[in-house]
Amino acid sequence: MSITKESELIGMKKISEVVGTTLKLMREYAKVGMSTKELDEYGGNILKSYGAKSAPYEAYGFPGYSCISVNEEVAHGIPSEKKILKEGDLINIDVSAELNGFWSDNGGSFVLGKDIHNHQPLVDASKQILYKAIQNIKGGVKISEIGYLIETEAKKSGFKVIKNLAGHGVGRSLHEEPDNILNYRVRTNRKRFKKNTTVAIETFISTNSTIAVGLNDGWTLVGNKGGYVTQHEQTILITDNSPVILTESNGIWN
Ligand code: CO
Ligand code: CO
Repeated sequence: MSITKESELIGMKKISEVVGTTLKLMREYAKVGMSTKELDEYGGNILKSYGAKSAPYEAYGFPGYSCISVNEEVAHGIPSEKKILKEGDLINIDVSAELNGFWSDNGGSFVLGKDIHNHQPLVDASKQILYKAIQNIKGGVKISEIGYLIETEAKKSGFKVIKNLAGHGVGRSLHEEPDNILNYRVRTNRKRFKKNTTVAIETFISTNSTIAVGLNDGWTLVGNKGGYVTQHEQTILITDNSPVILTESNGIWN
């Protein structure tokens, strides 16, 4: 959305702090032996305590308050009593919510406990690439340029990107213009980032796959060629200089 007055910035800051804090607390709460349902209910209660409404649950009819994707799941993993977290699991939590008509979105991947499957390099690459991408965004920068940066940095780290998932405008709804902030360059996309707008920037860094495909449950996405995918996401306010990271309370870079 375009921020035109102080009250809009305050609204975006508030909901962003809420989803950021919820993500951080959920990451800290995740333990070996816990079900993803239990982790989701914990997060759902935090959102409720702030008076915020889970975006996937309210707006999309998703069967959970947050998306929790484990190991080979790329995104939109459904919280379940049957999914029990194990040592060394690669977990992605994505939290998005609405408060007073403002929406914000953030997410992050991490390794639970000891990194016995060596997922950490993929996690670190995703974090660093998101950081670098965001530092390069300001009013007037082409969206395709940031896609190129993400894809190039992924390659340098020995990884690939998922091509059919993307960052997006956010603010008055969860997904708004610009809608295709992809992880690679689309030369025909001449759109540019605009100053004083809020967008959600997200990485999808992958070991093998380049396309996310849906499972029969209607939600869960997995890679077309298997392997693992990491995602990190921040909602930001674009300026003339470095963006303001509205969801930085998530601590995903720490
Ligand atoms: Co998200
Ligand atoms: Co998003």
